[in-house]
Amino acid sequence: KKSEGQGNLSLALSEKSNMSINIMKRPGRNEACWCGSGRKYKQCHEALDDKILMYQRQGHIVPDHEMIKNPEQIQGIRDSAKINCAVLDAVAEKICVGMPTGDIDRIVAETTRAMGGIPAPLNYEGYPKSVCTSINDQVCHGIPSAEDILKDGDIVNVDCSTIYKGYFSDSSRMFCLGNVSEEDQKLVRVAKECMELGIKEAKPWGFLGDIAQVINDHAIENGYSVVREIGGHGVGIEFHEEPWVSYVTKRGTEMLLVPGMVFTIEPMINAGRHDIYVDDENDWTVYTEDGKKSAQWEVTIAITEDGNEVISW
Ligand code: MF3
Ligand code: CO
Repeated sequence: KKSEGQGNLSLALSEKSNMSINIMKRPGRNEACWCGSGRKYKQCHEALDDKILMYQRQGHIVPDHEMIKNPEQIQGIRDSAKINCAVLDAVAEKICVGMPTGDIDRIVAETTRAMGGIPAPLNYEGYPKSVCTSINDQVCHGIPSAEDILKDGDIVNVDCSTIYKGYFSDSSRMFCLGNVSEEDQKLVRVAKECMELGIKEAKPWGFLGDIAQVINDHAIENGYSVVREIGGHGVGIEFHEEPWVSYVTKRGTEMLLVPGMVFTIEPMINAGRHDIYVDDENDWTVYTEDGKKSAQWEVTIAITEDGNEVISW
């Protein structure tokens, strides 16, 4: 039985969206930088803070220091992502028609642990498995099970997240099983293009809205819609951090992008309308309201000095 409602989806809903008023606390110029590098502020993030404050004075939403990672933290996230990608590769090698999604859960749990990692979804806010497997009209947060057997023609998203030495990474891929219709193959392809177009827009001194606008435009041009209530998120020190990342906002709006920010690009693209509901039995799995299919790809990226680095795919 299913109904409308948001279940326990507190993690990534728009109400949590970047509302905090940002008052920057600055160390003295000769004091240690807030980033934990051990360097003097004037030789570390002082110039960056000056620039951020300039944007804030112009009325833009700007990131807090907690959203800006230092090089050591980014390396930690890269190491975590190395496992996350290897886990997705292991799934890609074995996934097939006739496989229960419960087997994907086992592959993810075993591969992650063999590499010294921990699957981040397991026990996260009560989530019962190590991975999300979302089939056809399931938008996201599908729970693997021995009873859900992948069929010829299914499209499925496998969403993996890893903790390694305290650092989190998060990415997902779509898999087409057997003979997938042209129509559904197009949905999977366009969803991937949306993510790739979003990545191209992710650069310092741009805005989250730049990413959202290209994604929404490309989806609409293809007759699709973008899910509004669930979005991307900062990631690295925790599973879900600020900022919350919408994929339906406008160019030049939303949070300023700054080197050191690490977040996901993970638009959910629906073949039909954007409306969704949450399964009221398991309180997790999100479905399209109209029963049409949905596709999603996810990467973790870091904003760099001159663009971005894809950390996990
Ligand atoms: N991996 C999902 C994301 O991209 C989060 C899943 S939460 C879980 O944000 F508990 F369902 F794993
Ligand atoms: Co995510």
